[in-house]
Amino acid sequence: MRAVLVVTFLFAVCGAAPSDKKQETEIRMVKAIEDKEVWFEEAQNRLDKVTKKKQIENKAKNIILFIGDGMGIATVTTSRIYRGQLNGNTGEESFHSFELFSNVGLIKTYTVNMQVPDSAATATAMLCGVKTNQEVIGFDANAIYDECNSEIIGTSKVESLFKWAQDIGKRTGVVTTTRITHATPAAGYAHINNRDWECDSEIPEEYKSCTKDIARQLVEDEPGKNLNVIFGGGLQQMGFGSSPSESSCKRTDGKNLTSQWENDRATERVSYGFVTNREQMEALSTEQKVLGLFGYGHMSFDLERDTTPTGSPSIADMTEKAIELLQGAQNGYFLMVEGGRIDHAHHGNYARLALDEAVRFDEAIEKAFNITNEDDTLIIVTADHSHAMTMNGYPERGNDILGFAQKTTDKEFAYETITYANGPGYNVHKKLGAIAEGEYMWIDPSTLQNRDDTRYGHFAPIYESIETHSGEDVAIYANGPFSHLFNGVFEQSYVAHAISCAGKFGPSADYCNSALSARPSALLLCLLIIVRSLFA
Ligand SMILES: *[C@@H]1O[C@H](CO)[C@@H](O)[C@H](O)[C@H]1NC(C)=O
Ligand SMILES: *[C@@H]1O[C@H](CO)[C@@H](O)[C@H](O)[C@H]1NC(C)=O
Ligand SMILES: [Zn+2]
Repeated sequence: MRAVLVVTFLFAVCGAAPSDKKQETEIRMVKAIEDKEVWFEEAQNRLDKVTKKKQIENKAKNIILFIGDGMGIATVTTSRIYRGQLNGNTGEESFHSFELFSNVGLIKTYTVNMQVPDSAATATAMLCGVKTNQEVIGFDANAIYDECNSEIIGTSKVESLFKWAQDIGKRTGVVTTTRITHATPAAGYAHINNRDWECDSEIPEEYKSCTKDIARQLVEDEPGKNLNVIFGGGLQQMGFGSSPSESSCKRTDGKNLTSQWENDRATERVSYGFVTNREQMEALSTEQKVLGLFGYGHMSFDLERDTTPTGSPSIADMTEKAIELLQGAQNGYFLMVEGGRIDHAHHGNYARLALDEAVRFDEAIEKAFNITNEDDTLIIVTADHSHAMTMNGYPERGNDILGFAQKTTDKEFAYETITYANGPGYNVHKKLGAIAEGEYMWIDPSTLQNRDDTRYGHFAPIYESIETHSGEDVAIYANGPFSHLFNGVFEQSYVAHAISCAGKFGPSADYCNSALSARPSALLLCLLIIVRSLFA
């Protein structure tokens, strides 16, 4: 009896009880009227969970950094509603899985030279720990955009989390839905003055002896060639072949980098796999190094994806497989997963595609959360920058998030709840030809026939062929060891250092050591309690 009591007591005091993994992301309002009972219960259920959460200060053995490219807070809110509505609810009350993480902060995304950032400079901040100039990758701000200078290269080069992790024997992986040579993943392994130099053909003649293109850096240099998992698109950039429908760069040096990657693994005598479709990816199991490229350019938007076995995997499929391949490593792993096409959808004002990509991104996060242990795995979810999108008007509760804001008497026609400050959606909505006296210059969107199309452009009052990013802060959500390092408002470059601290590798490893010294005293306290209880 006493032993049972002691054990129960210890579970409570020392927090040894197994953590409850169930996250309730879909809260269905059961009562007809959401009265005080409903909101008290909701708040108290949440308090019950929040007050039981313990601060975890173990070393983060495994770290997964999820980057939703362009997933600003307006995208998080609207895609949460979209998610709820797909599940048959009004939507506003649902949560993305990452919104139930224990810690949240805000990130300042400006770059060294720009108020509103691009993905190259922001990824360099998050992965290498320094802010830099727009469109520059893997160098600090001494490097000049679009100019290669071999003297500056040496001193301005910065290492990334992948390199720091590999240096202490961690396994490393990168998963993206964009070309593997695109800005965000490239900041993890490349050093280049222009993010567009993905193929040799893109580098100006005068710089060809100064730098290698991004694809070659991935295959030939550290830390790219040491990556255990590489999943994304970009067969064309790798010289595997080309597709007439793919307008991104082609190699002109005749190199076949996928074949070079395979030959290098054979020389290293490690088990490896090179795959190009979902079925082949699913068959991977114990390979030490894998390269999976699922498209000539970017991977398809999930709503337009070929879901047959010979089509491409979803971001959740790739994340699950990556974790399966990386886990079991004695020193743990560092994995970066980019939901890269939220951004591309916004650039076209394709709100439906953007929201859907954000929901698929959350599926990957939920999958990762489900198959890892929060006592040894730190999961971070953030965005590199936001977009010029708003959720506006006064739509009623449960209104289709892709529909119209409530009509008002002083408006001739409805407008969309999701509108953009600029972009190609302008042309979808602008009336062509001369505007007669008293006529509106915009087409009433409720008369447009193609509103259900994946590529329907939402309203934008200023024409830009490509909608722009926006510069307000983005959120960062974290769960697991040292996730409390992310409570606050931070410069984006802090992210790499906080990860370095939590995982105790790289340049800021020592800053998380002080927390360790607190552990023996907690253990001692527990021991004391056991001894006292037994001899009482
Ligand atoms: C490049 O190498 C891959 C094997 O890694 C092969 O399947 C592909 O056909 C090669 N492409 C060209 C253009 O030779
Ligand atoms: C994660 O686990 C929960 C609870 O078991 C389950 O409802 C959910 O479907 C799982 N999510 C994924 C993406 O596998
Ligand atoms: Zn973008």
